[in-house]
Amino acid sequence: MAKKILVTGGTGLVGNMLTKKLQDQGYEVSIMTRSPEKVKNLKAFYWDIKKQEIDEKCLDGVETIIHLAGENIADGRWTDERKKALVSSRTESIGLIYDLMKRKEHQVKTVLSASAVGIYGDRGEEILDETSKPGTGFLAHCCEEWEKAVEQGTDLGLRVAKFRIGLLLTPKGGVLDIFKLMVKTFTASKLGSGEQWFPWIHSDDLIGMFLWAVENEDAKGVYNATAPNPVRNKEFTKTLSDVLHRPFWPFAIPKAMFKLLMGEKSELVLMSTHTKADKIIKAGYTFKFLSLKTALEDLTR
Ligand SMILES: NC(=O)c1ccc[n+]([C@@H]2O[C@H](COP(=O)([O-])OP(=O)(O)OC[C@H]3O[C@@H](n4cnc5c(N)ncnc54)[C@H](OP(=O)(O)O)[C@@H]3O)[C@@H](O)[C@H]2O)c1
Repeated sequence: MAKKILVTGGTGLVGNMLTKKLQDQGYEVSIMTRSPEKVKNLKAFYWDIKKQEIDEKCLDGVETIIHLAGENIADGRWTDERKKALVSSRTESIGLIYDLMKRKEHQVKTVLSASAVGIYGDRGEEILDETSKPGTGFLAHCCEEWEKAVEQGTDLGLRVAKFRIGLLLTPKGGVLDIFKLMVKTFTASKLGSGEQWFPWIHSDDLIGMFLWAVENEDAKGVYNATAPNPVRNKEFTKTLSDVLHRPFWPFAIPKAMFKLLMGEKSELVLMSTHTKADKIIKAGYTFKFLSLKTALEDLTR
């Protein structure tokens, strides 16, 4: 019988790609969503984290849970209320599932979860691996709380792995659409100094990592989900301009402008995170895309 996998946030950017790939590989996939009535082609279970409501049938037969749910970090201004929602939609959601597992018989063995490189905060030139300490700032705080909540699964005897996702490059949607628009409208430029490290990853590799972890019993703990060759922001935009055959003018949008327009959220574009991917490579994951140019050529084809 096909292994059953439950994906939280299965309607999102990553969830859409991941659920399709898992189904292609022969897994039986269901998802948790606040709006099951909108979901086609997948079994969808209702939950509401605020009301602490969850369809208890969601765990039936499930062996692996992949936790992607969470309010979108890039949406809206980071008010105190928004920050609380960003954290609780990630921590209380997995908490609701763990509570259900304590009350109900289940077959769950593995929990895999998204996290983000934001856990390291702004670290300049420091090389960051999974043993590096968390940084400061809201993103770091949010990711620490998120990872701690997911890690509670080990007390339930589960295998738990968390992926610190970097700048995710996808064929459609996400951050690459914004950069493409800037390049095509000749407004591409350095963000702040342009020297900050961008830990990019091609979506095929992120999805590949989740699949690898579903199938590999030794995959546990935390992994940087970023390509082994991060680039600086200015190199990222220059490479994208070359791939799209557009000029790159290396003028800079001042940091202060981002801070004025985006407030605290400007850390999303200004922070420097130079991550290493050695741990996942040593554990046996083989990257499909090692070069940014090849990744961008593939994604903009
Ligand atoms: N994309 C990236 O570049 C990136 C980078 C680093 C980390 N990540 C992390 O990876 C995960 C998946 O990313 P994504 O880009 O696929 O996110 P996304 O497109 O924003 O989707 C997030 C999903 O979470 C669910 N959700 C949102 N608010 C919720 C709430 N209050 N309660 C319960 N569910 C809620 C939504 O499901 P329903 O609306 O169906 O309920 C949605 O499908 C996220 O946690 C994200 O922070 C993403």
